[in-house]
Amino acid sequence: MPPSPLRRSLLIAILTAALLTAAYSQPATTYPDCDRTFSCGDISNVTFPFTGGDRPSYCGLPEFALTCRDDAIAELTHDSLAYRVLQVDQTRRTLILSRSDLYDNSCTSDFSNTTLNNSTIFSYGGAQNEALTLFYGCNTSGMSIRPYNLFSCNSSGLDFTDAYYLLGPVPSDPILRIIYCSTNIGVPVLAAAGNRLSALQISLEEALNEGFLVNYSVPNEELCSQCNMLGGQCGFDSVLGQPICICGDRPCPLPPGPGPASPAPSEGVLPDGRVVAVKRLYDNNFKRLEQFMNEVEILTRLRHQNLVKLYGCTSRRSRELLLVYEYIPNGTVADHLHGKRAKSGLLSWPVRLNIAVQTAEALAYLHKSDTIHRDVKTNNILLDNDFHVKVADFGLSRLFPNGATHVSTAPQGTPGYVDPEYYQCYKLTEKSDVYSFGVVLIELISSLQAVDTNRHRHDINLSNMAINKIQNRTLHELVDSSLGFETNSVVRRMVTLVAELAFRCLQQERDMRPSMEEVLEGLRGIQNEDLNAHKVEIVNMSMDDDAELLKGIVDPTSPDSAV
Ligand SMILES: *[C@@H]1O[C@H](CO)[C@@H](O)[C@H](O)[C@H]1NC(C)=O
Ligand SMILES: *[C@@H]1O[C@H](CO)[C@@H](O)[C@H](O)[C@H]1NC(C)=O
Ligand SMILES: *[C@@H]1O[C@H](CO)[C@@H](O)[C@H](O)[C@H]1NC(C)=O
Ligand SMILES: *[C@@H]1O[C@H](CO)[C@@H](O)[C@H](O)[C@H]1NC(C)=O
Ligand SMILES: *[C@@H]1O[C@H](CO)[C@@H](O)[C@H](O)[C@H]1NC(C)=O
Ligand SMILES: *[C@@H]1O[C@H](CO)[C@@H](O)[C@H](O)[C@H]1NC(C)=O
Ligand SMILES: *[C@@H]1O[C@H](CO)[C@@H](O)[C@H](O)[C@H]1NC(C)=O
Ligand SMILES: *[C@@H]1O[C@H](CO)[C@@H](O)[C@H](O)[C@H]1NC(C)=O
Ligand SMILES: *[C@@H]1O[C@H](CO)[C@@H](O)[C@H](O)[C@H]1NC(C)=O
Ligand SMILES: *[C@@H]1O[C@H](CO)[C@@H](O)[C@H](O)[C@H]1NC(C)=O
Ligand SMILES: *[C@@H]1O[C@H](CO)[C@@H](O)[C@H](O)[C@H]1NC(C)=O
Repeated sequence: MPPSPLRRSLLIAILTAALLTAAYSQPATTYPDCDRTFSCGDISNVTFPFTGGDRPSYCGLPEFALTCRDDAIAELTHDSLAYRVLQVDQTRRTLILSRSDLYDNSCTSDFSNTTLNNSTIFSYGGAQNEALTLFYGCNTSGMSIRPYNLFSCNSSGLDFTDAYYLLGPVPSDPILRIIYCSTNIGVPVLAAAGNRLSALQISLEEALNEGFLVNYSVPNEELCSQCNMLGGQCGFDSVLGQPICICGDRPCPLPPGPGPASPAPSEGVLPDGRVVAVKRLYDNNFKRLEQFMNEVEILTRLRHQNLVKLYGCTSRRSRELLLVYEYIPNGTVADHLHGKRAKSGLLSWPVRLNIAVQTAEALAYLHKSDTIHRDVKTNNILLDNDFHVKVADFGLSRLFPNGATHVSTAPQGTPGYVDPEYYQCYKLTEKSDVYSFGVVLIELISSLQAVDTNRHRHDINLSNMAINKIQNRTLHELVDSSLGFETNSVVRRMVTLVAELAFRCLQQERDMRPSMEEVLEGLRGIQNEDLNAHKVEIVNMSMDDDAELLKGIVDPTSPDSAV
């Protein structure tokens, strides 16, 4: 069964709750007119992150506030220096700016360096520009010739009225050093203009008027695209000092349920910076929206330390459904076992056993709450900072009940994890989760993928491979060699017991599989034995003992039966 289009279209994204809480803490505030654009002189139709003119300041970011001088000149002020905006390219994210104090005027009275570079937002260090240095207040009385790059500037505060410019890096030329100048400032010019200036094809003023090219970047861009996904436009509330997400003229609605707005009662002032994940379900047919909402409501009420919190969903404006989840930072168990984080080697055996226990706890809780996960796999087991498990995506297919028209595309498990009995009756039960969890256990033991077509024909499905290896008493061929199976007898014993438990979970017939509660007990028992083993240090097993242990595995009555 290929992954369904629906499932594939689920999109995980990140949103800081700051955005949401900020929006929520000021329910009375409105933010109208963000659909207006900024236009001024030659600059037209400028949108986010810029503001100015008809476009209110909360519709963009403070660093990008433009003003329109004399209805003709767009200006941007940064570090108290004003720049003329000669061009805005919102696709390439470039600006062409020219210092306002130096426009049509090489004799500034503001002797300050151009400092747009001193910022992570603007940069102009590329090859498109050339450095130009202007020296002011120079005593040239000792010079016998008047060089071409000399000009005059009589501004207050200068000892001398001579000034000159230099293109390119300032050389450590002794001639320059004997000329005294009060001050110098750096101003970039477009490289092409610099070339023409040095060829004396244009004047200094003309070169300055052409400006210089600035790259800009949008801070917190990820937040902003998430806001757009909520159907909103990004903005910034300068009173709150925070980015905001605007839907229509109001803060975008928070998903219903006990979401990020309710906790942190201590001082409630600052956003807690909590990060959430948003899953987006694309669905064009919204007739059953009501039912969907009810199901989400049920899932929202499920709370367990090893389940990802589902805050709720929103659907108000857009035609998409968004499920808002707590965001878990450290990737999935799949990432760590055989994905992009596998090299880190952080999952030692005790960590893996702990992952197994905590995942089993989450699943046992779900089953107690009459919810079948339906898609247990290492990709859905997330890890937080301390490698605590958070199981995600539980009960998602509950949202698309059997009999609904598009159920054929609903997520019903993932190849390699699916209960073989599903193919007989097309019904998933708690025992289907148990089967999938058996595959997870084998992944934890072996670090292998659930399905891998590069493996031998019989071993493509990890569950088959595990059953073959265990039945053939070649478990050591399955186990990840980095776990110490061959060298550490305690590890060997525990891995063997877990393999036994997995074997029982992977039974073809549902009735032969233990319940999740039994699996959990079994795992806890293995974990506790480990503690005891450390205490008394009596365990010393040979491969023969190993084989003895495995004899017991076909007896499904107790995980401890062979001990
Ligand atoms: C600016 O937007 C208006 C309305 O969308 C459009 O008519 C106009 O052509 C645009 N101007 C430019 C220069 O793109
Ligand atoms: C501008 O920068 C240059 C080089 O860093 C420095 O020598 C000069 O003093 C600075 N000018 C001002 C006005 O700070
Ligand atoms: C940016 O400029 C400020 C003063 O304007 C200075 O204190 C700071 O060190 C500069 N930062 C960088 C990265 O150059
Ligand atoms: C701007 O910063 C970049 C590196 O961030 C540097 O390479 C470049 O020389 C700087 N440009 C100026 C004009 O200071
Ligand atoms: C702007 O960014 C592009 C790459 O994104 C780079 O090639 C170019 O040199 C940068 N230009 C300036 C002026 O910083
Ligand atoms: C200007 O430079 C000349 C020649 O180097 C020197 O004699 C004179 O004292 C300087 N004037 C001042 C005010 O520094
Ligand atoms: C510079 O300007 C001041 C007053 O603005 C004037 O008195 C002085 O003569 C001027 N100097 C030169 C060299 O033009
Ligand atoms: C988890 O991720 C955070 C940030 O992504 C990182 O600082 C931390 O070291 C990670 N912890 C583990 C155990 O990988
Ligand atoms: C392997 O797993 C897939 C999906 O779970 C299933 O369709 C297939 O029949 C399995 N193959 C074997 C040989 O068990
Ligand atoms: C298991 O052992 C039997 C007998 O040695 C052998 O025929 C079979 O190929 C083995 N299976 C696997 C998967 O190694
Ligand atoms: C464990 O068994 C091996 C071989 O069976 C033996 O050499 C070793 O001394 C034993 N270790 C302990 C702690 O009993």
